[in-house]
Amino acid sequence: MAQTLRPRDAVKPLLRVRQTRQFTPEPVTAEEVNAIADAARWSGSSQNKQPWRFITLREPGTVRAIAEAGIPNTRSLTSAAAAIAIVMSTDPPSKIGQAYDEGRAAERMLVAADMLGLSAGIAWINADTRAAVSEILHLPDDRFVRTVIAIGHASAQGRQAKSPRGEARLPRSETVYAERWPEGKGG
Ligand SMILES: Cc1cc2nc3c(=O)[nH]c(=O)nc-3n(C[C@H](O)[C@H](O)[C@H](O)COP(=O)(O)O)c2cc1C
Repeated sequence: MAQTLRPRDAVKPLLRVRQTRQFTPEPVTAEEVNAIADAARWSGSSQNKQPWRFITLREPGTVRAIAEAGIPNTRSLTSAAAAIAIVMSTDPPSKIGQAYDEGRAAERMLVAADMLGLSAGIAWINADTRAAVSEILHLPDDRFVRTVIAIGHASAQGRQAKSPRGEARLPRSETVYAERWPEGKGG
């Protein structure tokens, strides 16, 4: 009889999806980048509005130009072989709704990269860098980029744990409560 995984073990691949900021020079194929973009465009969004557009980047000059414009946030793009910029509207019906949709697509890209044996990381473009990135990507005035996903093959440094074992996340006892807020626990 086929062995079924315990729920905790079945979701383990997701727990492994982490942020990578250092990559090897090994290229990422157009097919891989497009598959990651497909995973993103199939994300759910509020009222299925799909408020995003994606720009896939494999030209090193473009990826490095964005890296330089947004340092330190964009440091992962200094070595990434590819990237995907999430393009959003400057005038959305709901800013919170838009950011929520964007976050769902971004996380999906990290998961998709992991499924392909690649690594990825989120680079946020701060407000004071947005004009430079808009120019690099030739965006119209009513569009902007806040999130760029760096993609590549993780280098040894990129694979290194960033926190001591067991300390990367708060323990379950401090973050997940059953049925109600625990008595005596401050906000
Ligand atoms: C909304 C958001 C913005 C982020 N912005 C950046 C960023 O600009 N640059 C960066 O290197 N990492 C950025 N990160 C990655 C976080 O720093 C990372 O998810 C966190 O440190 C946990 O890393 P881990 O999953 O590898 O443990 C961002 C993450 C989120 C969710």
